[in-house]
Amino acid sequence: MKSVEPRIAIERKHPNWIFQVVTADKDGIPNAMPASWVTFASAEPVMMAVSIAFERYTHKVLVNSDDFVLTFPSKDQKEATFYCGKNSGANEDKFKNTNLKAVKANKVNSPLIEDSVACFECKKRGSIDSGDHTIFVGEVVATHVSEKYTEKIYTTEGWHEKGAEGFKTIKEIAGENV
Ligand SMILES: Cc1cc2nc3c(=O)[nH]c(=O)nc-3n(C[C@H](O)[C@H](O)[C@H](O)COP(=O)(O)O)c2cc1C
Repeated sequence: MKSVEPRIAIERKHPNWIFQVVTADKDGIPNAMPASWVTFASAEPVMMAVSIAFERYTHKVLVNSDDFVLTFPSKDQKEATFYCGKNSGANEDKFKNTNLKAVKANKVNSPLIEDSVACFECKKRGSIDSGDHTIFVGEVVATHVSEKYTEKIYTTEGWHEKGAEGFKTIKEIAGENV
């Protein structure tokens, strides 16, 4: 084995899944930020955790909010997902500037994103700071799946340079390797 800097080893995580973390501010304005640092964290009850950098607008909102929604973006949400990852809800309304449509959730104030592969409504149950991020833990209180889209997207190596083209479905990744 060769000794390398952490970033070199971390690059080998691709393909890595992507979620959108959807929040609503105190006036109900929705925002979405892509996050790959997400995990399921408990089976009964179902719980999920997402690690969010201190400087994100989403962090500011989540500290003062009781809930969030996690979604798997579909293949038709690549451009919008990339846009949400390059811009901040502190300065703009991402739902107005993309094809993403916020739809009312069943049990939380944060909205779902229409046509996502799956959506998880989470009630915030705790948080812990981890270096320069906070891990927010949520209990999943309602779940939804798309009847139209089943294929979610993943990051591939070099997506930072490739932009939305670097987000691919498993079928697209497999097709490139045959
Ligand atoms: C594929 C992808 C994965 C990302 N994963 C994370 C993550 O897990 N945690 C995080 O804090 N930021 C992550 N980011 C960066 C945020 O999405 C980005 O900084 C975003 O613009 C923050 O939006 P906000 O300021 O509206 O919250 C990711 C971005 C992309 C494109």
